[in-house]
Amino acid sequence: MSEPMFQAVRWDPAGAVVLLDQRLLPFDRRFVTCRTPDEVAEAIRQMVVRGAPAIGIAAAYGMALALFPGSDASSEVLDRAARVLVQARPTAVNLAWAVRRMSQVAGAVRGATPEALREVLVREALAIHQEDIDRNRAIGIHGAALIPDEATVLTHCNAGALATGGYGTALGVIRAARESGKHLRVVACETRPYLQGARLTAWELLEDGFDVTLITDNAAGYLMSRGEITCVVVGADRIARNGDTANKVGTYVHAVVAARHGVPFYVAAPTSTLDPALPDGSGIPIEERRSDEVTQVLGTPIAPAGVRVRNPAFDVTPGSLITAIITEIGVHRPGAGGYDLVALTGIEPVSQD
Ligand code: MRU
Repeated sequence: MSEPMFQAVRWDPAGAVVLLDQRLLPFDRRFVTCRTPDEVAEAIRQMVVRGAPAIGIAAAYGMALALFPGSDASSEVLDRAARVLVQARPTAVNLAWAVRRMSQVAGAVRGATPEALREVLVREALAIHQEDIDRNRAIGIHGAALIPDEATVLTHCNAGALATGGYGTALGVIRAARESGKHLRVVACETRPYLQGARLTAWELLEDGFDVTLITDNAAGYLMSRGEITCVVVGADRIARNGDTANKVGTYVHAVVAARHGVPFYVAAPTSTLDPALPDGSGIPIEERRSDEVTQVLGTPIAPAGVRVRNPAFDVTPGSLITAIITEIGVHRPGAGGYDLVALTGIEPVSQD
């Protein structure tokens, strides 16, 4: 496997998944080692690892861990691991996609010895990981063509190497544009309440030598109204057939403001983030997280005790506000009737039974 820039997820052949603990960045660089599917699921729930493709990759390794010594390698063991992992976080479809792919591979070699099955599953998880990096590189090449030289690109949350197998989706487009010789500035929105933009994107881009400016989420409209943003590029957690896109909460607001000011709004995601079984975004499950993420900033209270809180972690941007969706296949633009991602990508809906 080629070496990604930041290893958010790493397989230890002794039988462990090693995760860069993203809760501690940018202040501390520590790793969490998971040896069972339950430990991987808990790490996903607790946001040790986050970002749609990265949690899919971690879950794929988690499935392989179900077969490490101590397990009886029965199909119930894998079915249970699949259930626990898929339930860890609801919105990113990459999680279910990766677990389903692992279950299918296991099903295809039913009857194999536990050792052979384990080997097959480890190989498949490594393939899922490497394919994600390759997909991101391809997304980058397609997307880079959309970014003009001297552009100022606004992004939200973290859709970088930290959120994927490596290289990133939205940040992959930005990386590839720079690799093609363009000079760029990046504006990173802080991304309340979990601060993925401030803590992770600002750190990842600084480490990589980018010209990055951090703003509050609320400042994005002001900059767009002044013509200071060339385009917006974000990642995605789930994209319905008509292009409606779930991504980190706040993305929808940026899309509305971008449309108001004629700023192109791009979504960059691998096809593993497509959910063409959903006709539109109304069926996307939106995770609601703990209230203390809103009432505290890095452990310090900022609101009166007892106040009622809503904390949806994602929102849905209608396909009608998205200028183009960039996948590893190419740049997909809406037709007269909007997006039809099955027609555009050839990816068929997966039956849910
Ligand atoms: O809650 P998070 O940090 O997992 O949310 C991440 C995002 O919303 C990303 O933009 C998305 O998963 C794409 S990552 C390539």
